[in-house]
Amino acid sequence: MAITLRALAFAVLSVAMMAPVVTPQQVRLSIDVSKTGATIDRHLFGQFAEHLGHGIYEGIWVGPDSTIPNTRGIRNDVVAALKELKVPDVRWPGGCFADEYHWRNGIGPHRAVTLNSNWGGVIEPNTFGTHEFMDFLDQIGSEAYVSVNVGSGSAHEAADWLEYMTASQPTTLAKERAANGHPEPYKVAYLGIGNETWDCGGNMTPEYYLDLLKVYSRFVHNFNPAQQKQDPMLRIAVGPGGAETRWTDWTETIMKAYQHHTWSWDLNGLSLHAYTVGHWPPAFTSVGFGENEYAQFLKSTLDMNDLITRHSAIMDKYDPEKKVALVVDEWGSWYAPYPGSNPGFLVQQNSLRDAILAAMNLNIFARHADRVRMANIAQMINVLQAMIMTDKEKMVLTPTYYVYKMYVPFQDSTFVPISFDAGTYTHGDTSLPRVDAIAAKDKAGKLWLAIINIDPNRTVEIEASLTGFTPKSAKGSTLTAPNVDSVNTLDAPNTVIPKPIPSKIKTGELAITLEPKSLTVLSVEQ
Ligand code: AHR
Repeated sequence: MAITLRALAFAVLSVAMMAPVVTPQQVRLSIDVSKTGATIDRHLFGQFAEHLGHGIYEGIWVGPDSTIPNTRGIRNDVVAALKELKVPDVRWPGGCFADEYHWRNGIGPHRAVTLNSNWGGVIEPNTFGTHEFMDFLDQIGSEAYVSVNVGSGSAHEAADWLEYMTASQPTTLAKERAANGHPEPYKVAYLGIGNETWDCGGNMTPEYYLDLLKVYSRFVHNFNPAQQKQDPMLRIAVGPGGAETRWTDWTETIMKAYQHHTWSWDLNGLSLHAYTVGHWPPAFTSVGFGENEYAQFLKSTLDMNDLITRHSAIMDKYDPEKKVALVVDEWGSWYAPYPGSNPGFLVQQNSLRDAILAAMNLNIFARHADRVRMANIAQMINVLQAMIMTDKEKMVLTPTYYVYKMYVPFQDSTFVPISFDAGTYTHGDTSLPRVDAIAAKDKAGKLWLAIINIDPNRTVEIEASLTGFTPKSAKGSTLTAPNVDSVNTLDAPNTVIPKPIPSKIKTGELAITLEPKSLTVLSVEQ
């Protein structure tokens, strides 16, 4: 018997040594529902679709003669998936592509065939142009954010494009639009005046760009009668691309001028581009990585918060009423090109790490919702941190897609303050907060929580106390997967998908256990 007990003790000890017992962490959230903050604008969940790789061609556009089921050339499967996300706006046609785009190439029965010099030097057939973009928006139920060409175009060309799209009176351009199949004016909700004009958009100084911005703002009109008094088109200027002095100078220059702007020009948004890259050129891989790369990459995505804080502070100096929005219209993960892909096509896989990264950034935007009122993840399909990947007639929804789906209830909700001690997750030399959370109230009075457990090794037991809200029931879902680099593929599309998660209400408090490396979204009703 003694020998048996000793053997048993030894066996238990060996198992314990092989798999260290990891105790769950406890985190207490205090949610004050009696105090509300800014509206979490639905446009924080906007997207970006550039003529780049298979983002447009194959991703959205297959042409009316394709065997892939489509409506007027636009893939039905992709449209159905995107409708679920309630995409508020789509930024198009670029990106760097926008500053070489000439809109006339993309209208009418005879399209000019050009080259895409920015992205692989491939043929640009221009079969997806203004009308096809607007049709795509109609099909998914979204709004247009059109980026006009400042780098190699002119204010005249952009003004003509806007007149073509928006004039209701029988001008020559409006009649041409009607002849091309759309008598009614289009709605253009947002106008982007250039793209990265400090780099691919023309290597301009802030002063030079500022002069052009004033000219474009003055002469590029939206004539749509429905957008005159209500719902006016908002103009978005090129803003910073980082935190260094040249970027703070850029924001200073534009915002200082805005402070004293006259009737003849205006500005409603300043763009910020900020990718999570780790270091440039992109060297982190999107597949086959371990905890080191998981921790390092997510740590670097937290720079978004510093960047927004820094540029918001400059904007506050010149625009204390926060009339000008900070528009993060390019963001997301950017990895080394996927092995075997065309490096100019920016193809990468999308893993559980990207889902966590997306949620961390959406939470950052929500916390800055008073100034950050629009954001566009790069990019919608087949490019960078995509929602959807296609392969001929097949498509797969990425982990990032599911994050956007889980966050739909946060669109136009009201921010609710939440305080907690996040704890720390440390791996090697890298430390970051273990937990992140936001809360918001929707128009029906439901409370929504988005809670991330970044730690890939420990579960977290959450207890949430609520002030000004008596919880009666809660339900939600959680997104996790076996590994930090788990992905969805055409053969295994359901590896990273949300699943229902149990929660308890006990003596007025909400209790929930978060799995390691997970995002949980819960609705709470009183
Ligand atoms: O999203 C890819 C590219 O990144 C965009 O075209 C450009 O604006 C940015 O540098």
